[in-house]
Amino acid sequence: MLTFRTINSLTQCLRGYRASGLRVGFVPTMGFLHAGHRALIDESVARCDITVVSIFVNPAQFGPHEDLDRYPRALEQDHELCRMAGVTMIFMPDAGEIYPPGFQTHVEPGPVAEPLCGAVRPGHFRGVATVVTKLFNIVQPDVAFFGQKDFQQCAVIRQMVRDLNLPVEIVTVPTVREPDGLALSSRNSYLNATDRERARCLSQGLLAAQASYGEGQRDGQRLLEIARAYMSEVDQLQYLELRDAGTLEAIQGPVERPAALCVAAYVGTTRLIDNVLLTPP
Ligand code: PAJ
Repeated sequence: MLTFRTINSLTQCLRGYRASGLRVGFVPTMGFLHAGHRALIDESVARCDITVVSIFVNPAQFGPHEDLDRYPRALEQDHELCRMAGVTMIFMPDAGEIYPPGFQTHVEPGPVAEPLCGAVRPGHFRGVATVVTKLFNIVQPDVAFFGQKDFQQCAVIRQMVRDLNLPVEIVTVPTVREPDGLALSSRNSYLNATDRERARCLSQGLLAAQASYGEGQRDGQRLLEIARAYMSEVDQLQYLELRDAGTLEAIQGPVERPAALCVAAYVGTTRLIDNVLLTPP
């Protein structure tokens, strides 16, 4: 496994691999890797000849009062997980390599980035779209892997790839959960024992609504009520919404097309997100 800190050294090495016709898989991350990231890496290793993982805590996607400075880091463990998983290359640039002095061009996503996290984290998806475009241009992967856990992020990236004709296939990997249902997240490490216990209610609510949908419930309001009934334990429910699974448009009335039930909430001071898909059998 090779580690690169500069764009030049990475692209030079990748050129050789690409020239011999190898299929390049790419997993962008912000590090502090867990079994959710591992599922993306496993999928890439299974489908591609070489796998590149980037580890970059992207300042452009954090708001001024968010957790950029305290975002958890564990480079040695990250390396070990990547090595064990069969990763070919790690790209871990510093902020100056990605945003050198004078940097001024951004990728501005459209309406798909407006609701949900886009509404409560202004500029977040502009930062994500910009860094992912840059990473795609640097790595030039055949396939890139994203987690369903960040449902709106997947939708924003798919839309961007279509709109800008980016020559990369996007694969979405299902959410990996703890045994009690909590979606794995680097931010779970912020939770103390009581908050960790309370955090279960998010996935419990979503999965209960999904089960009811599976039994034929199509009334959107009723599905939201079922989920919300579990979520009284959180400190602040930022949103709990039913959205079209492709466009993220609001769903009025019965749920008749593939939908996503999405939640964001504060448990203690930790902001958690999760979602489930409601798709006809
Ligand atoms: P990060 O939060 O590190 O997540 C990296 C990738 O892992 C994302 O595609 C995310 O959806 C996926 N992931 C996280 N938890 C998961 C889980 N429990 N199950 C499945 N996949 C999971 O998302 C980012 O970083 C950044 O926004 C990034 C795309 C790297 C751009 O900076």
